[in-house]
Amino acid sequence: MKKVFISLSSFSQVSDKPLSILNANGCEVVLNPYKRKLTKEECLKHYSDVDGIIAGTERIDKDVLTVANKLRVISRVGVGLDSIDLEYAKTLGIEVYTSQTLPSIAVAELALGLMIDVLRHISQHHAIIKNGEWIKSSGSLIYGKTLGIVGCGRIGKALVSLTKGFEMKYLAFDQEMDIEFGKLHNIRYVDLSYLLNQSDVVSINISKSSDTTDLIGAEELAMMRKDAVFINTARGGIVSEDALVEALRKSEIAGAGIDVFDQEPYVGPLTDLENVVLTPHIGSNAGEIRERMEIDAVNNLIAVLKP
Ligand code: DGY
Repeated sequence: MKKVFISLSSFSQVSDKPLSILNANGCEVVLNPYKRKLTKEECLKHYSDVDGIIAGTERIDKDVLTVANKLRVISRVGVGLDSIDLEYAKTLGIEVYTSQTLPSIAVAELALGLMIDVLRHISQHHAIIKNGEWIKSSGSLIYGKTLGIVGCGRIGKALVSLTKGFEMKYLAFDQEMDIEFGKLHNIRYVDLSYLLNQSDVVSINISKSSDTTDLIGAEELAMMRKDAVFINTARGGIVSEDALVEALRKSEIAGAGIDVFDQEPYVGPLTDLENVVLTPHIGSNAGEIRERMEIDAVNNLIAVLKP
């Protein structure tokens, strides 16, 4: 019987189907007992005798791969592979998969939700009412504003499509320019500093790599307008959290909506700030998409482990 560790803490929350496929294929399934992202020590402990992993975003580095000496397949529920040492996995003959169902629309919807929440202070007002008070503050429209998309790939493009009714102006920063898409949607490809300087809303939608780690630091945040908001639904580490906290504290930017963090679960000074909305890396957690992503991940894993 093949042993499969499911490290994704929210696995099977929306449907039993993915789990039943594993059971029907005779897998011994071990679920993440911590209900959060695994630490390195936990990966070292739990991966030592498994044949396959249904992975979240836990770091699977050289040390972890070395300990996992029976491992044949890592199957991600998601598209990001920045957490896995792919080269080393390849040398060990470990196959790595992402789910075919893309979370783009779910992540783009979350980014849009965070934008409106931050701009109109929705969560802030919710907290005020829950506290027994009735205090109003004016926010700003998203309508007609300039949206700067850092990384205009699948998620960035989904964001453009979703925001069509808001009559926004679009700026994009990306190594690869999709000229056709740009023409169709009136997107101007610009350099990063121009985008940061000219946008009312900056949305990070770029993959994490050595090129994009620390892409946004104090200098870049200082280029943003004082009334601009910053949204990150991509990956922690693309923006320096210390610099972001400072920029928010000093009101160098108006607010932020953050779904992804350097260390997850996140505990830190962003939670003390009023002009910030935080979510626990839930970009792809929309039931309709998530079930399909989990089924993809399970099928990809079984295809390797089946005798
Ligand atoms: C992804 O697709 O990698 C998302 O971050 C979900 O894990």
